[in-house]
This record gives sequence, structure tokens and C-alpha cells, in this order.
Amino acid sequence: MSDFETDRRHAVSQVAAFFDDLLHVPDGPENRLIEAMRYTMMEGGKGFRPYLCYAAARLLNVDEARAIRAAAAVEAVHCYSLIHDDLPAMDDDDMRRGKASLHMAYDEATAILAGDALLTLAFEILSHEATHKESTKRLALVSALARAAGMQGMVGGQMIDLQSPELDLDSGGLTRLQKMKTGALISFAVEAGAILGGADDGERHALAGYAHDIGLAFQIADDVLDVDAASADLGKTAGKDAMDDKVTFASLLGTERARDQAGLLVEQAIAHLAIFGDSADSLRQAAEFVIRRHS
Ligand code: IPE
Ligand code: IPE
Ligand code: MG
Ligand code: MG
Ligand code: MG
Repeated sequence: MSDFETDRRHAVSQVAAFFDDLLHVPDGPENRLIEAMRYTMMEGGKGFRPYLCYAAARLLNVDEARAIRAAAAVEAVHCYSLIHDDLPAMDDDDMRRGKASLHMAYDEATAILAGDALLTLAFEILSHEATHKESTKRLALVSALARAAGMQGMVGGQMIDLQSPELDLDSGGLTRLQKMKTGALISFAVEAGAILGGADDGERHALAGYAHDIGLAFQIADDVLDVDAASADLGKTAGKDAMDDKVTFASLLGTERARDQAGLLVEQAIAHLAIFGDSADSLRQAAEFVIRRHS
């Protein structure tokens, strides 16, 4: 039986090894960019999205090397989103993954460029034939990631999030925001495994339902931790959402009801996995991790 924590560590180490190979510091003035990309990428993240991609792919018997490439692509987009999220023009956060945010350790221009390079790198990785021998599968991955990352997904959600202090969002509006800014990429991580594994309609539907629910629970938990946890545990500045008047489930419902809501979503997520039997135990534990984590 597979275990979430073992699987998460494995996915994290495999993705780190992949980027260690790929991100060589060249002997030239562009050194700084690669060093900056490595600075955020290489350590301190939980690796939740790479784990999801790896575990969903394994459920469908995908070759591990392929799954790790897709997992690396998701993590590249995620890291880019964090680097840009911390910029002064966005959340203006000076701490990330337990150390200075990239724009503090380097400078804003380098942080913008490192984010840009990580975003494009994700598509370079997915479109390479080592990701899948069939070009239709590679195209499906590229297309799904483009949708998840772009205006209808993460970037669109970030736009709403930044305006949230001026918007009178109710829980429906906030759910839409969170589906876009966080849920879309989490859904892609799981979907990538389904695409690589040639999931049938039933499997795809079950995995999509699971990912939808844990994606929402993940951001609710992040919002509650922003209120409840300390910066030292989070590795990022606690209390930042309230400081910026962000609308979150913690501000809208209070932390207790927000936590209940996330708990219901996790139960719902786990129910979607019934068709997979015991082989989905690791993914079930991952759903529980979303609300039990301390960072
Ligand atoms: C933080 O994501 C940003 C959100 C979408 C909530 P994670 O909590 O997965 O951050 P890392 O990757 O572990 O640093
Ligand atoms: C960011 O949400 C989600 C992204 C798309 C990066 P937050 O702004 O709440 O993430 P943290 O709390 O800074 O990690
Ligand atoms: Mg933000
Ligand atoms: Mg932020
Ligand atoms: Mg947050």
C-alpha cells in the first residue's frame, strides 16, 4: 500500500533531480537568471502539485520518468506564480519558503524574468517527446496547462484576488476566485496524470472531481493558516491577508467555519476515489493532508 508522505518525498526528490540536471548555470551574464530560478525552485516547497501528478499517473500505470516531467512542469508554473505573487506590485511579501522572497534576495527585474522563464520552461518540458511519444498527448498537456495557468485560471484568479478588497465578494464569488487562482493548477496536476495514463471517462471524471474539491480545500486551508499560524512555521509572512484587506474564507466565514468547509470538501474529494479501491489510498491521505498541514 502506498503512503502519502513517502510518495510526496519521492516526487519532490525526483523533481529536484530533474531540475538540477536541467538548470545549469552557464558561463555568461545570464547566470543570474538561472541562479534565481534555482533559488526558489530547489528547496522549501511542499511539492504538493508534483506529488498529485506523480500519484495520479501511478494510479494509471504511467512510466515514472514521464510522470516526473509533467510534475516538474506543474511545479515550474507554481514557482513562477509564487515569485510574481510576492512582488511589490502584487502581495508585496518579503518571505517565501523560509527565506527572503526572490525579489528581495535578487531584485524585482530578476524576479519577473525568473518567473517568465519558469512559465515558458514548463511548456518546453511538456512539449518534448520524452514526456510522451504521442504528439496528441503532448498537445493535450500543453493545452490543459495553458488553460489552467492563464486568464481563465491562475492569472485570472490573481487579478480578482488583487481587486478583492474593493469587490463585495460573497462566498460564490470567492469560490470562483479560488477555483481559478489555486484550483486550476491543482486540477491540472491531477489531469496531467490522467492524460498521460489514457484514463477512461469514469476515471477522468472521478479524478477531476477529487482535484476540484482538494483545490478549493487547499486555498481555504492556506487562508486559515494565514490567520492561525506563525511566519516561522509557514515560511512566509503570517497575517498578510488581513493586512492587505483580502477577502478570504477566513475573513468571510471566520476560521472555524472555514475549517469546517474545508473538511467537508476533503470528505467529498475522498468519496470521488471510490472506483479506484485501495490503490488510491495515497491520494486519500493527500486530501487529509490538505487540512491537517501546518504550513
Ligand atoms: C502556496 O502554495 C500558494 C497557494 C496557492 C496557496 P503551497 O502551499 O503549495 O506552497 P509551497 O509550494 O509549499 O511553497
Ligand atoms: C496565491 O495565493 C496563489 C497563487 C496563485 C500564487 P496567496 O497569495 O494566498 O499565496 P501565499 O499565501 O502568498 O502563498
Ligand atoms: Mg496572493
Ligand atoms: Mg501571497
Ligand atoms: Mg495565502
